[in-house]
Amino acid sequence: MTSYDFGYTWVWTHGHLVPLVAFAVLVALAVWRRWSRWLAGVFTVLALWAAASFAITQHVLRANMPLELPTASFLHEGTGRVLDLGAGSGRSTLMVLQARPAAHVTAVDIYRGYFGIDDNTPARIMANARVAGVDGRLDVQTADIRALPFADSSYDAAVSAFAIDHLNREGVTRSLAEVSRVLRPGGEFLLIVLNVDGWVKVAYPLPHGHGYFSHSPGPNRWTSALEGAGFEVVEQGTRPALLYVLGRRRPTP
Ligand SMILES: C[S@@+](CC[C@H](N)C(=O)[O-])C[C@H]1O[C@@H](n2cnc3c(N)ncnc32)[C@H](O)[C@@H]1O
Repeated sequence: MTSYDFGYTWVWTHGHLVPLVAFAVLVALAVWRRWSRWLAGVFTVLALWAAASFAITQHVLRANMPLELPTASFLHEGTGRVLDLGAGSGRSTLMVLQARPAAHVTAVDIYRGYFGIDDNTPARIMANARVAGVDGRLDVQTADIRALPFADSSYDAAVSAFAIDHLNREGVTRSLAEVSRVLRPGGEFLLIVLNVDGWVKVAYPLPHGHGYFSHSPGPNRWTSALEGAGFEVVEQGTRPALLYVLGRRRPTP
């Protein structure tokens, strides 16, 4: 394999081309058959929406590219043992391995169920790591992030992108407690969740699978959840379509 395959289904990456073509054909028909200007106007607006949404998926959401680290503060010493919770096909894992060339990542995922990625496997994330030339610093484990198979204080840092916000309230609490348990005191946790901002609202106006966050919007929900799990929140912010919170594990009293 010579290019990335993150496995996000075409519905997410190219699905807007279907309404784009359909509404463009309807605009052409409306002009040709001299349908009412009102109808032609509605089809034009819908075709423009589909075109704008497709551009957003390709240039803003970029589901088929590795993520970019939203903050330079994360693991700024550049080395350490890092966990990626809900690593999937590797966009967040490659984000860490590429930005922090001395770090080692353990990618953890349940590798079952549908989360926008078809037929996901550990082999796919390893293949993506080979494309990036970082596979020597990666190991992959199949596990549930609500019950991690690792010893207390065994990792220096952790990330999780677009995974914990798929869980229900209890799942969020359990997974945050688990990441807190397996990080050493002072260890950093970078949580990235979907931010239903203007980009997302335009491209995906219908409901999607990020339930806990979507129904309880706002950064405070996540900062309080991290604090409740034993983290000091040291930074938070947004980038297009995402919200991030950087926490540091408090020393155990
Ligand atoms: C939308 S994908 C995000 C993957 C990757 N972090 C990224 O940014 O592209 C969500 C991932 O979370 C994983 N996941 C969901 N619930 C999980 C659980 N309880 N334990 C482990 N992984 C889980 C899914 O299998 C899926 O790979």
